[in-house]
Amino acid sequence: MKTKDKMIAGFSKLSKPEKLAWLVKHFFTSNPMDVMREFASFWHTNVEAQKLFDGISENTITNFYMPYGVAPNFKINNRIYCVPMVIEESSVVAAASSAAKFWYNRGGFKARVLSTTKVGHVHFIWKGDPVKFYSFFNQIKARLIQGAKDITANMEKRGGGLKSLKLNYLPEIEEGYYQLKVDFETCDAMGANFINSVLESFAKTLTSEAYKYEDFYGEEQNLKVVMAILSNYTPECLVESWVECKVSELGTFNNGEMCAEAFARKFEQALNIARNDSFRATTHNKGIYNGIDAVIIATGNDFRAIEACGHTYAARDGQYRSLSEAKVDNGWFRFSLKVPLAVGTVGGLTKVHPLAKRSLELLDNPTAEELMEIIASVGLAQNFAAVRSLITVGIQKGHMKMHLHNILSHFKATEQERVTAVQHFEKETISFNAVRLFLAGMRDESFV
Ligand code: MEV
Repeated sequence: MKTKDKMIAGFSKLSKPEKLAWLVKHFFTSNPMDVMREFASFWHTNVEAQKLFDGISENTITNFYMPYGVAPNFKINNRIYCVPMVIEESSVVAAASSAAKFWYNRGGFKARVLSTTKVGHVHFIWKGDPVKFYSFFNQIKARLIQGAKDITANMEKRGGGLKSLKLNYLPEIEEGYYQLKVDFETCDAMGANFINSVLESFAKTLTSEAYKYEDFYGEEQNLKVVMAILSNYTPECLVESWVECKVSELGTFNNGEMCAEAFARKFEQALNIARNDSFRATTHNKGIYNGIDAVIIATGNDFRAIEACGHTYAARDGQYRSLSEAKVDNGWFRFSLKVPLAVGTVGGLTKVHPLAKRSLELLDNPTAEELMEIIASVGLAQNFAAVRSLITVGIQKGHMKMHLHNILSHFKATEQERVTAVQHFEKETISFNAVRLFLAGMRDESFV
């Protein structure tokens, strides 16, 4: 097939079956009816529900299913939660549940929101005298705020709105470059649309006021806005979660072979490595985001924003480091996580996606701050479970135990084969090849 055959104008105008038919014809080599049937088999049987999902994005041809699990027994600030988690990686939910249970009888998770400020910028160029510009800015600040009143009024009624406006002159980035940095409080909303609307209003007012400003006559009059956009880096929208107990209360590990003191010491060493080695820090933090992202997705929040922000935060002193810390002091073990989480419990997808809405209901309809505390605690639990495995039995034992089911699915194992395989691999090392050979033996085949 020639490359230009794969080019199409007006794809978005086609109906869903037409889109599918075109795709199948141009990009698939398998039997066209099989491909069509497979995509269509994931359409929602309820037409209205399907319409809703199609409306969330564009050019949809089907739905992509992800497992929705729950992790029970999360004690956070003395409240008990059963946490919804949407994630494709086996063993993540099991690990979170296991850590939740471990800490349940050791005081549970404690969490507190440290700050809730969101931020955005108008980036612009003005090449006149900076002293004059600062004076201009001070004079028109009130007009900027007034000009955005239509947008901010409702948020103000809810207790939010603008927190501060600051002008930064940064010619080292670009000749004549300024940024108007705006801090926001968006209460229970993630607030992206609100923030961007306010920033665009500020951009307009800045441009029109600069054009009229008499003191600029004779100077380069034109203020050129480059862009107006929120920043997903919200270091001031921060939450802390921690667990702590006496070292002696940690119990023993590896069937009694590792005592609590040895575990605590090794845990501290693992965290010290993650704090100072960026290679380890990246994987360590990935483990934290296994938990965080799963709840972010389940509650209809934006996991790309949350990840981007967290990784910038992890590198805030110039080196990428672990987000969590462990300390053994005076016989006490303390493990904590500080992470920026700009989440919402109203607006966006939170009430549009029926399951996001149910997730929030499952969490007793939390405020955004409570959701920050829950999510940070799940991230910490996930991290605890991963490091605990790494420094004791290793990660593969638990991981492969869960992954066994994926391998069995790959070989289309029957229910009976599954039961026998699970029993067999209780004591054997699990690998793709080992499962393949085991099934071949059961099926009396030389090769599956
Ligand atoms: C796997 O998804 C996550 C871990 O690698 C995290 C870690 O190493 O801490 C287990």
